[in-house]
Amino acid sequence: MLIAQITDCHIGFFRSDVGGANTRRLRAALDRLRDGPNRPDLLLLSGDLTEFGDAASYARLAAMLADLPFPVHLMVGNHDDRDALQATFPDTPFDQGFVQYVLPLPGLRLIALDTLEPGRHGGAFCAERAQWLSDQLDADLVTPVVIAMHHPPIAVGLDWLDGDADAAWIARFTKAIAGHPQIRAILAGHLHRTIHASVVGVPLTICPSTAPTVALNLTPVDPERPDGRAMIIDEPAAFALHRWEGERLISHFENLSAGQPWAVLAGYDTAFQDLVRLNARERRG
Ligand SMILES: [Fe+2]
Ligand SMILES: [Fe+2]
Repeated sequence: MLIAQITDCHIGFFRSDVGGANTRRLRAALDRLRDGPNRPDLLLLSGDLTEFGDAASYARLAAMLADLPFPVHLMVGNHDDRDALQATFPDTPFDQGFVQYVLPLPGLRLIALDTLEPGRHGGAFCAERAQWLSDQLDADLVTPVVIAMHHPPIAVGLDWLDGDADAAWIARFTKAIAGHPQIRAILAGHLHRTIHASVVGVPLTICPSTAPTVALNLTPVDPERPDGRAMIIDEPAAFALHRWEGERLISHFENLSAGQPWAVLAGYDTAFQDLVRLNARERRG
């Protein structure tokens, strides 16, 4: 089973430019998933779907998702608005006022969390949501689980974006997942970069964005002294393809070139066949 993840598309960043860069970059990712060799079984859009949480941007997103040949599941990020999202996507599951749900898949439960607190840039996970997560995990201790959440529950060293690693919301989340070995992976977004880490021993994969990328600079930032450093850069849009093999999740990432397909430097022809044959022989032992 292939689970595609696109995150942080930030549709509507350019209010006056309907075909703006963020729309083009998301379009490239959707086209690749639909027309490329790795058509997913489902697509997870893990929050910051829009820049301003406005109805026009959700409508634009809905039009882009309308003709896809696989189901799409939406989550909220700090740039989203739950009510506006539900108005445009009435099938989005709401539970206790949050966009949180369990997706039963073959041999896997995908649990989507809501880490939005309106007006706040960083994550949030209140006692109600923590209890909801605990209840879902306790309801089935056997079937493997993958948790998806917009905000990663760690600080990663990107100083200007990091939250407090000791924040209460992170402690609530960590406590809720502790002692549940059925959790095989946590998927997140929000940081606009590809990052791997772990949370209480569970692998954490942070998906790169389709919207422009956060520059990789791990030096401290001074909120009182802008130093001219690069903050947002034009690295390629990208998405993740998570391959569930019944026991573990294997995450692949694909970068999208601007407009044109990547140049093919070698194709599968008879010259390449020697290497293909060699590896096939080795695999068979
Ligand atoms: Fe974002
Ligand atoms: Fe975000």
